[in-house]
Amino acid sequence: MDPQALETEARSAIAAAPTLDELDDARVRYLGRKSELKQALREVRDAETGSVLNGLRERLEESVAERQAELERAELDRKLTEEVVDITLPGEARPRGHLHLITRIRREVEDIFLGLGYQVVDGREVETTRYNFDALNFPADHPARSPLQSVFLNGDVLFRTETSPSQIRVMESQPPPIYMVSLGRVYRRDTPDATHTPIFHQIEGLAIDRGITMADLKGTLLHMMRALFGEEREMRFRTHDFPFTEPSLEPDVSCFLCEGKGCPVCRYSGWIEIAGSGMVDPTLFEFVGLDPQEWTGFAFGMGLERVAMLRHGLPALGLLWENDLRVLRQF
Ligand code: DAH
Repeated sequence: MDPQALETEARSAIAAAPTLDELDDARVRYLGRKSELKQALREVRDAETGSVLNGLRERLEESVAERQAELERAELDRKLTEEVVDITLPGEARPRGHLHLITRIRREVEDIFLGLGYQVVDGREVETTRYNFDALNFPADHPARSPLQSVFLNGDVLFRTETSPSQIRVMESQPPPIYMVSLGRVYRRDTPDATHTPIFHQIEGLAIDRGITMADLKGTLLHMMRALFGEEREMRFRTHDFPFTEPSLEPDVSCFLCEGKGCPVCRYSGWIEIAGSGMVDPTLFEFVGLDPQEWTGFAFGMGLERVAMLRHGLPALGLLWENDLRVLRQF
């Protein structure tokens, strides 16, 4: 073996290796275990040959390392120029969800009343007949007390059929003056159709103070309707009957689609039935131990799904429950 010739050949092969893979091939060929050099090193018998061959090995290892660094640098340069990232381009937008329409309306109504200085109170979804019916002055034979109409868990425990029990719980827990709203789910054994679902949402409102009159009720409801349906809305009130109010009034809001001219949504009357309300019946005050001579108040209740349907022209309630994103994304 001629060390001089080997060195020339190996050095030019290493220097000419165009890629890291081919450099490795060259390294194996000239420095690997089976290479001519390594074999020669194994057979060395005298110190002089040994130092010549070891010197050669070291120089070849150095040139491999040099070439490797060269190739790696070139690769990095290539990446830096070819794989350019334009940091001024817009990033990938993350799809963002939003709250359900009913949650939004619920918060909107809460905001309207927070703005009037009301407190927002949590009620209970599971109630007793005492709070759901007795305290609210429901007569013993009222049909809502039947298990055919309401969802009972056992004897006198049921899913609340309305948010009105929150009136009693608030009057029991704090002295007047009281200005509160309570919003949440209610449950009834209704067969689902375009305007009924067994679970829906209501807002309950209660104001108790000295000298509250029906004018306060009307003004407050008008404020809510205008905030929800537009500042041009007008209201009218029809007499009605609820066990817990006397007198009871059903407020209608002027149709916001036809401006009162008559259309299918208002059934050509120009008015839309929207809520229940009235002056708090004195029996409720007696039930919670308040003096009806000293305190007066008004109360109202309204379905949130109905607000959603009217305001957004939904043809059926089920759309709010099916969670079809093509529908929900529109709000
Ligand atoms: N609780 C009634 C219902 O579910 C709605 C209602 C009517 C609530 C009149 C009230 C009210 O507070 O004064 O149909």
